[in-house]
Amino acid sequence: MALFGSIHFDNHEQVVFSHDTASGLKAIIAVHNTNRGPALGGCRMWDYGSEEEAVTDVLRLSRGMTYKNALANLPFGGGKSVIIGDAKKAKTPAMMRAMGRMVERLGGTYIIAEDVGTNPDDMTEIRRGTPHVKGVKGEGGDPSPATAFGVFAGIEASVKHRLGKDTLDGVRVAVQGLGHVGYDLARQLRAAGADLVVTDIDMAALDRAAQELSAEVVGLDAIYDADVDVYAPCALGATVNGDTVPRLKAKIVAGSANNQLATDADGDALAARGILYAPDYVINAGGVIHIYHEGADYDHDRAFAHVGGIGDVLTEIYSLADRENLSTHTAADRLAERKFQLGNTKQAA
Ligand SMILES: NC(=O)c1ccc[n+]([C@@H]2O[C@H](COP(=O)([O-])OP(=O)(O)OC[C@H]3O[C@@H](n4cnc5c(N)ncnc54)[C@H](O)[C@@H]3O)[C@@H](O)[C@H]2O)c1
Repeated sequence: MALFGSIHFDNHEQVVFSHDTASGLKAIIAVHNTNRGPALGGCRMWDYGSEEEAVTDVLRLSRGMTYKNALANLPFGGGKSVIIGDAKKAKTPAMMRAMGRMVERLGGTYIIAEDVGTNPDDMTEIRRGTPHVKGVKGEGGDPSPATAFGVFAGIEASVKHRLGKDTLDGVRVAVQGLGHVGYDLARQLRAAGADLVVTDIDMAALDRAAQELSAEVVGLDAIYDADVDVYAPCALGATVNGDTVPRLKAKIVAGSANNQLATDADGDALAARGILYAPDYVINAGGVIHIYHEGADYDHDRAFAHVGGIGDVLTEIYSLADRENLSTHTAADRLAERKFQLGNTKQAA
């Protein structure tokens, strides 16, 4: 496969492959950029269809972490790792320890954390091989409340920018997905006076939202047609696509889901319709910001103040987009590039 010329390679500083025969570990660590600090990014364990697929995934995700960490104002660069295999069948503690030794050989250039297919117990095993690990069981805690608070702050900033309103009182928000992030977000929105329209496949969550938050429940597909000011996708990726963009009545798309745009062209289509899009990797960075603050000297107020800064970053992105006539997802990338090319002179907020 083409490597150095691939769009995903994008000048990665380092890519390391390892096969630990004793444990069966087959893993790749990609370090995209360390201008701002060591590369922080999760470890994904996935049953890839081919080794090429695994390489492409790790490069794409690692590059994405450089952008995410820069716009989260973290003193971290971007990296990611993948373990090739079915997490439900093939994962063993010995494999995780081997992964820890692999991370250790990079001498702190890469900091590992959990992602799809890995969990806090795995990070505990990895810790036996390296200190360069975050999200260890008992030290991190659930990042979802921080993510939800970041999305709330992002919605406030978006409403101010697009609707010119200083509060969420009376603002109508459609929340798709009432899971760890979505329910907490819905609760905060309601407390701020917003009116909610919600959907989920989980009937119990819907009943709870109707009772506790006076939310209006709609069907899974009807959420796209809801008469709301804000559409907050908090369940699946790629819900902003050729089918849904023309249907949205919302003036703002702002939620926690990863990879909300099916394609970049869908981001341009939102902009063309005058719908303000809060780039997903910016508004959902509360979890990674929380990881940065975790540890022995954890200070809840300091961590959440940092997360609340997501609103200011979005406002900066919107101003750049307006000034230079860009879609907001393009403006976000430009701002991130400026930040990580500047390096670590301006570190954590
Ligand atoms: N948890 C975090 O800290 C965090 C951080 C960054 C990004 N995210 C992203 O935010 C999203 C939500 O994360 P979460 O931790 O709340 O997950 P979760 O699994 O707790 O919640 C997802 C919710 O979506 C519902 N759902 C599933 N299919 C649906 C459908 N077709 N329509 C409507 N609802 C549906 C589920 O029933 C569940 O209630 C995910 O895309 C996740 O990748 C989460």
